[in-house]
Amino acid sequence: SRGGKGGYAFYMEKEIHEQPDAIKDTVAPHIVDGKTSFEAEGIPNSFFRENQNIVVIACGTAMHAGLIGQQLFHTLANIHTDVAVASEFTYTNPVIKPGTLVIAVSQSGETVDTIEAIKYAKKKGAKVLSIVNVKGSTISDISDYCIYTHAGPEIAVASTKAYTSQLTVFYLLAIHAARLNGLVSEEESSKFLNELQRVPEVIGQILEKKEFVKKMTSKFLLSENAFMIGRGLDYSLLLEGSLKLKEISYVHSEAYASGELKHGTIALITDGIPVVALVTQSALASKEYSNIREVQSRGASMILITRESLYKDMNIPEDDTFILPEMDDMFMPFPAAVVMQLIAYYTSYTKGFDVDKPRNLAKVVTVE
Ligand code: G6P
Repeated sequence: SRGGKGGYAFYMEKEIHEQPDAIKDTVAPHIVDGKTSFEAEGIPNSFFRENQNIVVIACGTAMHAGLIGQQLFHTLANIHTDVAVASEFTYTNPVIKPGTLVIAVSQSGETVDTIEAIKYAKKKGAKVLSIVNVKGSTISDISDYCIYTHAGPEIAVASTKAYTSQLTVFYLLAIHAARLNGLVSEEESSKFLNELQRVPEVIGQILEKKEFVKKMTSKFLLSENAFMIGRGLDYSLLLEGSLKLKEISYVHSEAYASGELKHGTIALITDGIPVVALVTQSALASKEYSNIREVQSRGASMILITRESLYKDMNIPEDDTFILPEMDDMFMPFPAAVVMQLIAYYTSYTKGFDVDKPRNLAKVVTVE
């Protein structure tokens, strides 16, 4: 049952384990006769044409889901997509043409910054599609269309299953758009959907190795600072992984696009600093290899998260490496997300913090 902590030490741990079901339940209503479908929500196909503009607005973890969504819309569907932090949106005079599709993402559906941004966009003539977890919430009410994530109640302040459920909706939408635009064939699109339907099982495989992740987190216990490096989808994923670690374990962590480190803060990589490198994208692995050598030569204490096919070239001991199950490159954010959640969870847990109620943070923020 989804009530109580179900034998887990904290709600966060329980919610991490509920992800296979959350994703299954979120996918199910949107595959009809083997094809993506948003008919039940009445969403017009015209929203997913290549000449459409999409603006994702959200806060915190939901905004990070949008950053992955942006890359999916670009890669699969050739649709220009911006991502805006909801609290900044109205101050930047965003160009919203009538008919622009705003995708608002929110677990609670009650975040006031997101609500204000939606109202502003609607005034400028945008249509609003929201991705919301809580049924009947304000954001689902004021949106033109709403797609629900089916993560069930999320109680831990740090979002886990809501985030991966939001990602799931973005995958479905991007595959849908690619299909409508004729950019993927029916075969390719069903190949992608099959891969999406493998995610719950793949997450199960990660959860079986959680004790290994726990051991790896010893590197964060003595350090006040950490860095996380990656490229492309890996970088977007690390922004969330890094936020998670900061939120609940109070380790100051910065996610950096690997190629940007040399333009900024590489001087802060000193002896013994933990650096997480996430390498899941085959096409980017060789570039990442050089970035890893750069930080290693400055004494970084590496944690590598990668996949078997890319590991052999990386030159990092097995004890410091988490090998992710193999999936199509585009789907690797799912297993990676769960490892990052476990890293944050075990760091906070081992330090003896109240994982579910980090200091100064609220689950639902109703002040601007
Ligand atoms: C708060 C929570 C975050 C969450 C953000 C957006 O700051 O602490 O975990 O990501 O609000 O919440 P929402 O309910 O709109 O997804």
